[in-house]
Amino acid sequence: MVPLKRRKVTTEQTASHDEACKYPDVAIVIVERKMGASRKSFLTRLGRSKGFLIQESYSSSTTHVVSENNTGDEVDIWIKKQKDTEGKASAHSVNLLDISWLTESMASGNPVPIQDRHRLKTSPKPFETTPAVKMKSYACQRRTPLKHHNSFLTDALEILAQNAEFSENEGRSVAFRRSASVLKALPHVVRSMGDLKDLPCLGEHSLRVIKEILEDGTSSEVESTRQSEQFQAMKALTDVFGVGVRTADRWFREGLRSPLDLIPTGQKLNHAQQAGVKYYNDLNTPVTKKEAMVISDIVEKAVKAVLPGAIITLTGGFRRGKELGHDVDFLITHPEEGAEERLMPKIVNWLDNQGLLLYQKTTRNSYLESKDGPARPASNMDRFERCFSIFKLEQLESDTHTETSSYNSGRAAGTEERHAGSTWRAVRVDLVVSPYSQFAFATLGWTGSKLFERELRRWAGQEKGMSLSSHALYDSKQSSCLL
Ligand code: UTP
Ligand code: MN
Repeated sequence: MVPLKRRKVTTEQTASHDEACKYPDVAIVIVERKMGASRKSFLTRLGRSKGFLIQESYSSSTTHVVSENNTGDEVDIWIKKQKDTEGKASAHSVNLLDISWLTESMASGNPVPIQDRHRLKTSPKPFETTPAVKMKSYACQRRTPLKHHNSFLTDALEILAQNAEFSENEGRSVAFRRSASVLKALPHVVRSMGDLKDLPCLGEHSLRVIKEILEDGTSSEVESTRQSEQFQAMKALTDVFGVGVRTADRWFREGLRSPLDLIPTGQKLNHAQQAGVKYYNDLNTPVTKKEAMVISDIVEKAVKAVLPGAIITLTGGFRRGKELGHDVDFLITHPEEGAEERLMPKIVNWLDNQGLLLYQKTTRNSYLESKDGPARPASNMDRFERCFSIFKLEQLESDTHTETSSYNSGRAAGTEERHAGSTWRAVRVDLVVSPYSQFAFATLGWTGSKLFERELRRWAGQEKGMSLSSHALYDSKQSSCLL
């Protein structure tokens, strides 16, 4: 896309010899370097008289750069300088040609096909040695390894994504997350902008941030966001379990900056938020895989005790192989359709009787009463019966967390009285119950990541004409559910 300002200049240049211009698709620039102004001007006039589009200066619309006695590398540097003075970031590929191509073209009255001997040779650049990566544009079509090569870029982009979420700008946030996801899928470290050639989903804003990091080591926008009072406060406040962006934003505008401010200012907190404040430190200390396994055993025991034959699957980040998580997610079903009904209260009761729950709130399923069936949920939220809970997890002495292990080291905000050598800690656990007929879709939907799920649904819709949810796959063409 040619920026408006530049396009105007190009049009003016073209207009000055409009009638004569026979080949508008071949936009030529003659390099003055080593040629001199008078020869350049002579060739320009001659070329134009023969109907060629010869531009005064290099621009993003240029397609052919012609020079005399310059090497390809010298012309490359010349082009870079033209771009720098114009403040243009995006590189576009142009033909670097020897003057012989222009003289032959003028002699034959039309642009002659470019032959190898016309081309100026350039030495291979670092990115040219990097094998080109064929990257599919939907995240669900490619592998996104947990351990990848570009966290120095993806961490920065994810800060901007999170900041966009804080201002409820979902589109912007998804754009940054998509860019980050593409970089995670690359099999190598990004060293130059050339490494990003032909990659999908990298928007202008993300490219600007990446370029700045590659050139300066940091991005000013990312750093100022990271350090801004608003970002830090929004992060600290939304880190409280039960607090969403809207509440955090309201509190921020009222002058609150951290969960510590909630109590003295006498904020009205619901039960979830009260638990969130009480267990703030624990809940912001990452859950380890080992802890997730212990919780898995507990949930398994609880479920089997109240419904023998039930199936329990660990979902969420731990199913994707993550070493750490913010919670532990489970999906529960039973091979006999309908046997799962009224299961959740029984599980919760069992856990509560064992003294394993610090907090729980169960939301009922809503798919049974819905008129439009399970295939088309009103929103991305699914309709399964779900229990948001906080487990009281007994710990081995060797596993007890120290204060410094918190995500938010230095911000000890939890109000829970904990004696030295406390043998338990609070852990967020999500339990979801699905009927057996929807179990496959629920497992897929609850495995995440959020971006992967979103992309999978987008792909199903846009490429396959289907509608995917955590309940079903619906074929719009055949108006049928693929259960
Ligand atoms: P989480 O928020 O627990 O994310 O949701 P995670 O990927 O496990 O990462 P952690 O916990 O931060 O380590 C797990 C998945 O469950 C689905 C989403 O697809 C999400 O990726 N989910 C979550 C829903 O379908 N609906 C919801 O309301 C919440
Ligand atoms: Mn999770």
